[in-house]
Amino acid sequence: MKYSAPRGTVDILPDASGKWEKLERILRTIASNYHVKEMRTPIFEHTELFNRAVGDTTDVVTKEMYTFEDKKGRSITLRPEGTAGIARAYVENKMYALPEKLTKVFYMGPMFRYERPQSGRQRQFHQFGVEMLGVESPYVDVECMMMAITVVKALGLENVTLHINSLGDEESRDAYRKALQDHFRPVLSDLCEDCNARFEKNPLRILDCKVDAKHEAMKTAPKTIDYLSESAKAHFDKVCALLDDLEVDYVIDTNLVRGLDYYSHTVFEIISDDPKLGAGATVGGGGRYNGLVEEIGGPATPGVGFAFGLERLMIALNDNEDDDEGIDVYIMPLGEEARDLGMQISAVLRANGFSVDMDYAGRGFKGQFKSADRFKATYSLLLGEDEVKGEYVNIRDNKTKEQEQVPFEDIVSYLEKGLGL
Ligand code: HAM
Repeated sequence: MKYSAPRGTVDILPDASGKWEKLERILRTIASNYHVKEMRTPIFEHTELFNRAVGDTTDVVTKEMYTFEDKKGRSITLRPEGTAGIARAYVENKMYALPEKLTKVFYMGPMFRYERPQSGRQRQFHQFGVEMLGVESPYVDVECMMMAITVVKALGLENVTLHINSLGDEESRDAYRKALQDHFRPVLSDLCEDCNARFEKNPLRILDCKVDAKHEAMKTAPKTIDYLSESAKAHFDKVCALLDDLEVDYVIDTNLVRGLDYYSHTVFEIISDDPKLGAGATVGGGGRYNGLVEEIGGPATPGVGFAFGLERLMIALNDNEDDDEGIDVYIMPLGEEARDLGMQISAVLRANGFSVDMDYAGRGFKGQFKSADRFKATYSLLLGEDEVKGEYVNIRDNKTKEQEQVPFEDIVSYLEKGLGL
């Protein structure tokens, strides 16, 4: 029996993990610059949380969730996104009662959606997400967008555009809902079964439909922006004015509604034109969700956030730099006695902070030198019979190819000096 990874999952092999670490390091640094702390929530939650938060007419909930019963018959779902879990934890841990009104957190980790895999789309994928809860202010929306822009800039992504729109507050959404129903009612019999169900429950979701995407009525559908209440319009105008002041390029995209139910007011996406991702791929998206915390049983708490797909960032990154820094020392023993000694030396060197590897395959020097090369070792430490007897090692500087005899007791100070420590 041969096993393969489940469809839509990917093994990140040691050769690629350096690039992942680099990406994660950059994201962590940006988070720290924005004074955003990490929060880790479970990878699975009660299914009901996602039904409630993400919405039971969304594609994510109806078609894409990995849901199963645990041994006690509880319905559990592998998280398809991070916002619901953060909101749940925020309520459960009474973070709304913290002295600081605005809570800013980030998360990074795997998410699961049963989707058709393609470039930049997997069933297990990774997100870097940020949530800012507790303050309803357009300044916080813009802080989120600035942070998302900082990410794409830091990664040197080109051909990306910030798209923004507003879904408005409850009053705007009610008016818009009615307008959508009036618009789609005459053509309802042309639309798919799902759209017919959405028509009553949540007409906004008709706009996400992949089956009816090309229907004429989709193109002429009313725009959220025309139904904003006065205060929702003022919020959106302030967001735009702040972006203008900060000289951020953006496009008001009146078709942008996002595929998750919790959004209100500002929504945004960062869209890439990188052909490797397929034209118009979304690398990240987010928005405000003022009703979410209350929806899942907490006190009324505004929130705004976004998430990037790390696989998509990786594809767009186009980073051909070799990030492998190599090791300080490769220990090359010949014979068992030398290997025993090599083991002792490696323990001492590692305890002194050097990165060290050693040959365990029992090869001759020729094969070991090849490894030293592949490992980009700054120094090779040769240990043959003579060296063992004479209680010294031959240290070879792999760049200059110069070799020097160094007594055992001087190895640490020799390397410290050589590596400039
Ligand atoms: P989302 O737009 O569903 O938003 O996902 C955010 C990003 O995750 C997408 O732009 C995309 O880069 C990546 N992504 C989504 N599905 C896949 C997939 N199957 N394979 C690879 N990448 C994928 C959210 O998840 C919201 N929770 C974002 C948010 C946070 N809104 C407010 N706070």
